[in-house]
Amino acid sequence: MNNMPTVWITGASQGIGEALSLEYASQGYHVYASARSTGSLHALAQHATQLKGEITPLPLDITDSSAVNIALHSIDTPIDIAILNAGTHRPQSAVGFQCEDLRQLMELNLLGTGNCLEHLIPIMLQQTKGQIAIVASLAGYRGLPDASGYGATKAALINLAESLKLDLENQGIDIRIINPGFVKTPLTDKNTFPMPDLMNADSAAKSIRKGLQGKQFEVRFPWRFATVMGFLRWLPASLYFPWVRIMTGKGK
Ligand SMILES: NC(=O)c1ccc[n+]([C@@H]2O[C@H](COP(=O)([O-])OP(=O)(O)OC[C@H]3O[C@@H](n4cnc5c(N)ncnc54)[C@H](OP(=O)(O)O)[C@@H]3O)[C@@H](O)[C@H]2O)c1
Repeated sequence: MNNMPTVWITGASQGIGEALSLEYASQGYHVYASARSTGSLHALAQHATQLKGEITPLPLDITDSSAVNIALHSIDTPIDIAILNAGTHRPQSAVGFQCEDLRQLMELNLLGTGNCLEHLIPIMLQQTKGQIAIVASLAGYRGLPDASGYGATKAALINLAESLKLDLENQGIDIRIINPGFVKTPLTDKNTFPMPDLMNADSAAKSIRKGLQGKQFEVRFPWRFATVMGFLRWLPASLYFPWVRIMTGKGK
């Protein structure tokens, strides 16, 4: 038991979640870091020993609801912030579309986050305070080529977060959505196409922490790419599709 504020971060073994864990630990938070790779989480905790805060590994698979429940109840309350970041991307061409690919992405990105929410919301309600941030993506705004499964999971998370905000804002729970553009991580290292405004994970983690300190429901970055995607979000379909074809070189 210590007096540090507490943050629970999922998907903390690498990429954005790892950078976020170090960012919050450097700011004096007690970070509970979750992912499946126990060894990576212990290495991360070791890495944080010189920092103001600390990192406690909390290994779990977010697709396992009872494991999430057990792990969450081992965290010292109050949980001040929860960042539900674990997720993955797999390119999915519409030619040879496999529902199984969609199912696996939904299972992790949407339903895994749902497992976390199921056990987290009662804790937050009991505390009568806390912040829950869900990591979606700018790719959740509208349909993009080769991303039918991924985009659908992220669009669902954006809608889910908006709904939760309306339901929970009067109960002291602050719901946020985080929509990153391209961030350099083991996930995007697999991409073979040009990634506009690619940023590093440390900068992304700083943008997220600062954004969550602010008042905006949506935290999105990097600003230039996010502004372009935000503009495209509101275009009529007759203009949106030609724009995307030009930008990505995909389609007619
Ligand atoms: N990188 C980008 O450009 C970008 C852009 C927009 C949105 N995002 C979103 O940001 C989040 C993090 O992305 P990233 O690029 O950092 O990805 P990443 O490098 O692949 O890291 C994903 C993290 O999720 C964890 N994870 C995967 N399956 C899990 C499971 N079943 N249970 C618990 N943890 C699990 C992984 O750890 P284990 O394998 O050890 O479990 C890992 O720590 C994702 O939701 C992604 O969709 C990323």
